[in-house]
Amino acid sequence: MLTLSAFLFLVATLPFVRPHNIRVADQTFWPATIPLAVRSPYFSCWLPMEQNENPLAQWPQFWNYANNISVQTLGREGLVRVDGTTYQWLGSWTQQTQQSGARSVIPAKLTSFQITPTRTILTILAGAMNLNVTFLTPIEPSDWVRQSIPFSYVALEASSNDGQPHDFQVYADISAEWLSANGSSVVNWTTTSTSSIVYHEIKLTSPIPYGEVSGQANDGTMYHAMVNGAGVSFSTGSDESCRNQFQDSGGLNGSLDSDFRPITSNFPVFPFSVGFGSISSTPSPAVWAVGYVRDPVIHYTRPDGTKQSRGPYYRANFSSPMEFVCRSLNIIHFLQIYKK
Ligand SMILES: *[C@@H]1O[C@H](CO)[C@@H](O)[C@H](O)[C@H]1NC(C)=O
Ligand SMILES: *[C@@H]1O[C@H](CO)[C@@H](O)[C@H](O)[C@H]1NC(C)=O
Ligand SMILES: *[C@@H]1O[C@H](CO)[C@@H](O)[C@H](O)[C@H]1NC(C)=O
Ligand SMILES: *[C@@H]1O[C@H](CO)[C@@H](O)[C@H](O)[C@H]1NC(C)=O
Ligand SMILES: *[C@@H]1O[C@H](CO)[C@@H](O)[C@H](O)[C@H]1NC(C)=O
Ligand SMILES: *[C@@H]1O[C@H](CO)[C@@H](O)[C@H](O)[C@H]1NC(C)=O
Repeated sequence: MLTLSAFLFLVATLPFVRPHNIRVADQTFWPATIPLAVRSPYFSCWLPMEQNENPLAQWPQFWNYANNISVQTLGREGLVRVDGTTYQWLGSWTQQTQQSGARSVIPAKLTSFQITPTRTILTILAGAMNLNVTFLTPIEPSDWVRQSIPFSYVALEASSNDGQPHDFQVYADISAEWLSANGSSVVNWTTTSTSSIVYHEIKLTSPIPYGEVSGQANDGTMYHAMVNGAGVSFSTGSDESCRNQFQDSGGLNGSLDSDFRPITSNFPVFPFSVGFGSISSTPSPAVWAVGYVRDPVIHYTRPDGTKQSRGPYYRANFSSPMEFVCRSLNIIHFLQIYKK
């Protein structure tokens, strides 16, 4: 309910301003912010649509940023490489690279967007490639198990706008900012790769059960996951090293950072990349899954006054996080929802 009211608050009360320097065809609706992943009050990520700013050069924000009139970034960077030129379809890494002067990542152009109850679809121009990026947070009222699985998906499809094939790679990462608004909190992580799936799991080293800072929980685990297959690569490391690696080589070399540190200390990030080779359109979408898992989720007070910690509903079906991540990433199920 809080999620819904947060959405209504953001959409209903903030001014609808249409920037003048962005040409978005047939766009009569220009909200102050659009949803990217909204699964619970603690897993709620939004893209600010600031006046006169390119939405594809903004850091996604936790919903509370609108209350607190300050940034509460949930680091999430999206890049593609087209014939060796790097374009940004999400995040604000371009700003940093411009400041350092050393590199150029070009913010892509948003040409239109569409918002439905479960998805935000961005249509983007990145040089010779058109991208459709779909942020999907499923609603499955007839299946409580799936409905209780705290995952959200991003699918990227591309086709060339000149009819020619182009060398094409895609990249997306998340930072540890999703775990706490307190940037001094130390996080640790592991990466697991099997023949079917690959995922990063990120935790607070000292979680605070049922604790909150600026509306963000301090007792969750983040997952970033992809179906494993041809062209998929991963790494962990600082924001700069991972993003530069993709920009320089079009992929990630698998090196894993084990220097567990605070969220804002050389910002550790958790990326996946897919190399498609030379294509005129993607044969199937690149799909990233992002999950924010709390267990227990509720401090329940029984009628006799005693307290119980209760787990999420899906625990009835899935015993371990591993099993649950693999099943929730069932690509066939995802595509069924996605194509509806
Ligand atoms: C993007 O979506 C539009 C509208 O559904 C479709 O016409 C177009 O072919 C799609 N483009 C890509 C690259 O998938
Ligand atoms: C933030 O985290 C640091 C390190 O764990 C801790 O010392 C500090 O008290 C925390 N601040 C808040 C506001 O929770
Ligand atoms: C990370 O920290 C948690 C909580 O302290 C601990 O249970 C877990 O074993 C640690 N994981 C790694 C990879 O160090
Ligand atoms: C607003 O953010 C500050 C830190 O920037 C934090 O101390 C405060 O608790 C936040 N307020 C709310 C209402 O979340
Ligand atoms: C992978 O890339 C990183 C960053 O560019 C570099 O520091 C590291 O040595 C590379 N690892 C391997 C195994 O090539
Ligand atoms: C969860 O378990 C119940 C009972 O065994 C079963 O009927 C249901 O299909 C399962 N749901 C999923 C999504 O696996």
